[in-house]
Amino acid sequence: MALSSQTTALAQIPRVHIFPTAGEAADAVAEHLLATVKRNPKSVLGLATGQTPRHVYAKLVHAFREGKISFCDVETFNLDEYCGLTASHPDSFAAFMQRELFGLADFDPRKTNLINGDVQDVVAEARRYATRLKESGAVDVQLLGLGTNGHIGFNEPGSASDSHVRVVDLADETLSANQPSLIELTSVPERAITIGIADILHAREIVMLATGSAKAGAVRRSLREAPSTDCPASFLGTHHAVHWYLDNAAAAEIG
Ligand code: GLP
Repeated sequence: MALSSQTTALAQIPRVHIFPTAGEAADAVAEHLLATVKRNPKSVLGLATGQTPRHVYAKLVHAFREGKISFCDVETFNLDEYCGLTASHPDSFAAFMQRELFGLADFDPRKTNLINGDVQDVVAEARRYATRLKESGAVDVQLLGLGTNGHIGFNEPGSASDSHVRVVDLADETLSANQPSLIELTSVPERAITIGIADILHAREIVMLATGSAKAGAVRRSLREAPSTDCPASFLGTHHAVHWYLDNAAAAEIG
């Protein structure tokens, strides 16, 4: 994959790509995903929500509008969803995906797999999603963002490396961190369904995008400390094909 000329490769940490700005890091991630889909139009992508990937999705939409790519054969799996929200609720991750990506390009709704947060039986929904994930074989590229507490998906500190799709209670730090992103709700739902760390590690390739100084501590712990449940993203170090895309601010503490 061609990386931008501003990329700084850290010799002692393979596959860490550092860019001057968040925009440039996101551009590189978009290029990575576009190259994946061009190579295999039937790629299976694992997708994330949050503020960080928004620019990535805007670039994918731009490429589609320019006629450079089609996503009609791509299958997607989102990482997680808040419990209790319908897909049409503006604060649901399903609505986020529709607004930022699916509704703006030619994704086939039959191939965009989302967790349904609006169910009575959340355990059964987690089981249903786990089955869908298993049926797909393996995700080709899993896109991730990073929680300030080191979470990936909604695998909060304490999550085991062999965890699978399940219902989780969100950490206080996550409730505070996600509060500013709310559109209609006044407080962040306290429970969610997330794919597990083992599910994430099952992907053929993992692309982590972390930008901004608020992520610097979690980036350092993930890359510099031994894999531990204290920092779920540290388990990414056990995967054979992980790319970290960072801006200078998020990379500031890895020295
Ligand atoms: C949410 C999502 C994560 C995401 C994280 C970071 O909690 N469940 O998948 O990576 O937030 O979000 P942001 O990109 O807004 O910092």
